[in-house]
Amino acid sequence: MGKESDRILGRVSHLEDGDSSRDIYDDWSGSYDHHLIEEFGYISPDIAAQALSDEVEEDEVAIIDYGCGTGLVGQSLNQQGFEIVDGIDISEGMLQQAREKQVYRNLIRGDLTTRIALDDAVYDAATCIGSMGAGHVGADHIPELLRPLRAGALFVSIMNGMYYAAGGFDRAFRQLESDSLWRVRRLEEFNYMTQLERPGWLLVAEKQAQD
Ligand SMILES: C[S@@+](CC[C@H](N)C(=O)[O-])C[C@H]1O[C@@H](n2cnc3c(N)ncnc32)[C@H](O)[C@@H]1O
Repeated sequence: MGKESDRILGRVSHLEDGDSSRDIYDDWSGSYDHHLIEEFGYISPDIAAQALSDEVEEDEVAIIDYGCGTGLVGQSLNQQGFEIVDGIDISEGMLQQAREKQVYRNLIRGDLTTRIALDDAVYDAATCIGSMGAGHVGADHIPELLRPLRAGALFVSIMNGMYYAAGGFDRAFRQLESDSLWRVRRLEEFNYMTQLERPGWLLVAEKQAQD
């Protein structure tokens, strides 16, 4: 692994609750795709797009990509046949890279740990790939991520295995099911970088109708 990519991945992987990752991603934005794809063998975007495609017809599905970064997930969704994809991210540097890919309908700058500037119940699916964990989006914020989704919409997430347990996501995922906010369809552990030992979790959950 190259030294620079090693150093940045180390920084972003050792954030603590309350830290912000925005400056790291602003700095990383220009070399993020090269590091992730060429050096780490990052496969989460393709896995997420395939997981969504396994569950829904591509036609007319409006997707919100939370923590869209440089647009790798939007690109995989487009390649899978999903054409209506909006993205939201806190880092202007990452959004600039995403704009250049021209795979999103709308790109919004926003902080997913606050109220999101999206209407209720307007999307058929959401992706949140690599964007949950310390210094990113915490488990407490998931109900707000579900608000812009219609009942029956799918929430697809892939997250780092270390944060899954330590950040209380395992508990939160079960609690959301007990509270009838979502129904978990898939929850599977897999290695999401082919060039590194990087265990993570794939979640596919369906938003439940609220009374
Ligand atoms: C590891 S990157 C993943 C990007 C993309 N989803 C991918 O798979 O390549 C994490 C992204 O989450 C974004 N992010 C972190 N905290 C955020 C927050 N509070 N609100 C919105 N985006 C955030 C970062 O700016 C970064 O683009």
